[in-house]
Amino acid sequence: MEQTLSIIKPDGVSKNLVGTILKKFEDAGFKITNIKYLTLDADQAGEFYSMHKEQPFYGELVNFMTSGPCIPFVIQGENAILKVREIMGSTNPAEAKEGTIRAEHAESIDRNIIHGSDSPESAKREISFFFG
Ligand code: RTP
Ligand code: MG
Repeated sequence: MEQTLSIIKPDGVSKNLVGTILKKFEDAGFKITNIKYLTLDADQAGEFYSMHKEQPFYGELVNFMTSGPCIPFVIQGENAILKVREIMGSTNPAEAKEGTIRAEHAESIDRNIIHGSDSPESAKREISFFFG
């Protein structure tokens, strides 16, 4: 049994995809074990994505993540970290497999609807970032 941290990003919330996205994970057999609705400030978004601080897209990423409310939540189940990333699809929706959340709903690599932890270390850090 594994836990991972996902976020419905501001574009997912503004497009009314909250129910659709949570249902997708529940239908895949996962449990949602914690959830919040909040708007990140620049310090929080910057810290959450601090591993990308030197990247050219960092400023835009922080702007986007603070542009409106988002929904961080914890997903629990077998192989949750890897499986959730599969259900999300590739970072760039143009490369995402058919049927994935990003293929179906994301506009671009910068506005790609959903986040998911990429490793056990990230999952631990990110769950405690939002849920202590
Ligand atoms: P996330 O962290 O949001 O779940 O996305 P990810 O693991 O699939 O991608 P990551 O490499 O962690 O990048 C974080 C977010 O930064 C934006 N990005 N833009 N223009 C680019 O080359 C580029 N690369 C990454 C994306 O919005 C990505 O979700
Ligand atoms: Mg990432």
